[in-house]
Amino acid sequence: MVVGIDQDPVALVRAARRCEPWHDRLHIVHGAFAALDVLGPRDLAPDAVLLDLGTSRAQIEDPARGFSYLSDGPLDMRMDTTSGHSVADLLRFTPVEELASWLRELGDVPHARRVARAIVKAGPPVTTGALAAAVERQFPPRLAMKSLSCVFQALRMVANDECRALEGGLDASLRALRPGGRMAVLTYHSGEERMVRGFLRRQSGQCTCPQGLPVCSCGSIRRVVVVERGRRPRQGELDANPRARSARLWAAERVDVQ
Ligand SMILES: C[S@@+](CC[C@H](N)C(=O)[O-])C[C@H]1O[C@@H](n2cnc3c(N)ncnc32)[C@H](O)[C@@H]1O
Repeated sequence: MVVGIDQDPVALVRAARRCEPWHDRLHIVHGAFAALDVLGPRDLAPDAVLLDLGTSRAQIEDPARGFSYLSDGPLDMRMDTTSGHSVADLLRFTPVEELASWLRELGDVPHARRVARAIVKAGPPVTTGALAAAVERQFPPRLAMKSLSCVFQALRMVANDECRALEGGLDASLRALRPGGRMAVLTYHSGEERMVRGFLRRQSGQCTCPQGLPVCSCGSIRRVVVVERGRRPRQGELDANPRARSARLWAAERVDVQ
C-alpha cells in the first residue's frame, strides 16, 4: 500500500493518472507532509517515508502558477492553490525591512535591502515579469539570472511557509514510521539541506533525561541512525537528468531505545 501526499491538487490528478495500473494499492491524499497522521492508527505505521521537497517541473513550467522568472504570468507561487496568499498579495502588505530579511535569510540575495526597496517601488508587482524586471535592474547582466533565482526561491518559500512545513513534515514522518522503518528526504537547496541535516543530527542524539527517570521524557526514545549524508546524484544520472544537479538524498532509520 502506498500513500501519496501532495499539497498541490494538480499534482494529485497527474499522480492518479500515472499510477492508474496500481490504483488498488494507492491512496492519494491532498495535504501537507506534516499531516502524515492521516495514515491513522499505529498498526498502519509505514515501513518507509520519502519526502520529495520543493517544486515540480510541472509547477515551474506552467506560467499560470507564477513560479518561474523565465515566463510571464500571475505572481502566485502557491503549491496549494486552495489556501494561503499568493506572492503578489504578500508583497502588497509587506514592509521593506521584512521583505529584505526574507530575501537575505531565505535566498542569500546580495544587497537584499536595495532589492526589497526596488520591488516595493515597482508597484508592488503582480506578475512574474514585473518582479523579474524590478530585480534585474539591480544587478549587472552577469549576475542577473542567479539573483533572480535567489529572489524567486525566497518568495516561494514564504508563500508556502516552507521552513515550518519541512520541520512539521520531518517530525510527522519520524513519528509515523514503525520502529526499524526508514525515512528518506530529497532536498534541492542549501536551506533545506541545513534543516534536514540539523533535524537528523538532533534526532540521532543521546537521551538527555536525568539519570534514574523511569521513562524517557526528552523524546530520544525515537532515535534515528543516519544512513546517508546528503548523497549527490552520480554522473550517469546527471547526464540523463541535468535538473538533478542540486538534489541531495538523506536517509535515516528509526531505532527505538527502551
Ligand atoms: C520535487 S516535486 C515532486 C515531483 C514528483 N516526483 C513528480 O515526478 O511529479 C515536489 C512535490 O512536493 C509537493 N510538496 C512540496 N512540499 C510539500 C509539503 N510540505 N507538503 C505537501 N506537498 C509538498 C509539491 O507540491 C510538489 O508537487
